[in-house]
Amino acid sequence: MFKYNCLNPIAAVGLDLFSDQYEKVDELKDAQAALVRSAAMHDLELPDTLEAVARAGAGVNNIPLDKCAEKGIVVFNTPGANANGVKELVFAGMLYASRDIVGGIEWCLENQNDENIAKTAEKQKKNFAGTEISGKKLGVIGLGAIGVLVANAAIHMGMEVYGYDPYISVAAAWNLSRSVKHISNVEDIYRECDYITIHVPLLDSTKKMISADAIAMMKPTAIILNFARDLLVDEEAMVDALAAGKVHKYVSDFPNTTTVGAKGCIVTPHLGASTAESEDNCAIMAVREIRDYLENGNIVHS
Ligand code: MLT
Repeated sequence: MFKYNCLNPIAAVGLDLFSDQYEKVDELKDAQAALVRSAAMHDLELPDTLEAVARAGAGVNNIPLDKCAEKGIVVFNTPGANANGVKELVFAGMLYASRDIVGGIEWCLENQNDENIAKTAEKQKKNFAGTEISGKKLGVIGLGAIGVLVANAAIHMGMEVYGYDPYISVAAAWNLSRSVKHISNVEDIYRECDYITIHVPLLDSTKKMISADAIAMMKPTAIILNFARDLLVDEEAMVDALAAGKVHKYVSDFPNTTTVGAKGCIVTPHLGASTAESEDNCAIMAVREIRDYLENGNIVHS
């Protein structure tokens, strides 16, 4: 009998894939496997029984990788399983930052009792005018599962797409080669793009990669989107640049006291992968990885 622990809820559909050989336990103690979504594991005592951790998501910054390596605990993630959910929220962020959807909705609600609302709206709508994303330049920093989906969708939305990734896979480069201008110099993205979206993992080498210097190169109309991790961006510098009108908007999926409520910041509560489909996909992949490892000793992404 294998014991597994869920450190925070992951989609039940994945857990259904565990057979009678598996028992869900409330504590990590005695467990062979742990399934985790976003809960931080850094301060947890890892029992000697623990053989595998599966993160239902792409980023593994909530897992103590060094401690796991020392103890021989295999760590899995679920790359690509939630990529479509994140991609769709990136576009929602891009469109939200470009069109005054909320202003328009609020105006309609405020004027709901006006019998002539349709007529008044025609006079008011100039106040809610926006800009289109079609024809604009999008810089995609990081061409992994999510970055590639964003880049391809952007092409279909009529955007001119520039991609930057020093570690791009041959397959991704081939798939993108006809549509995305893959550039070797990220500064060109900072200088030239109207929208810049970040899709890299949080590592020591990528921490604050969107630095004050990078932000200083951007256009005053630039809209920066961060659905990867907040620590990738020097957010103090970003907030200062927004306040000074040096960049236009910062869309982030990671709420904190620096950005929420700051001028030009649009912040959501880490919702990128929060769709029924992405949650199911991640949970299913994570459970398969655990099963394949505990039962067969295989280390694969299913
Ligand atoms: C990820 O790293 O893929 C996301 O943080 C997943 C999530 O929202 O749980």
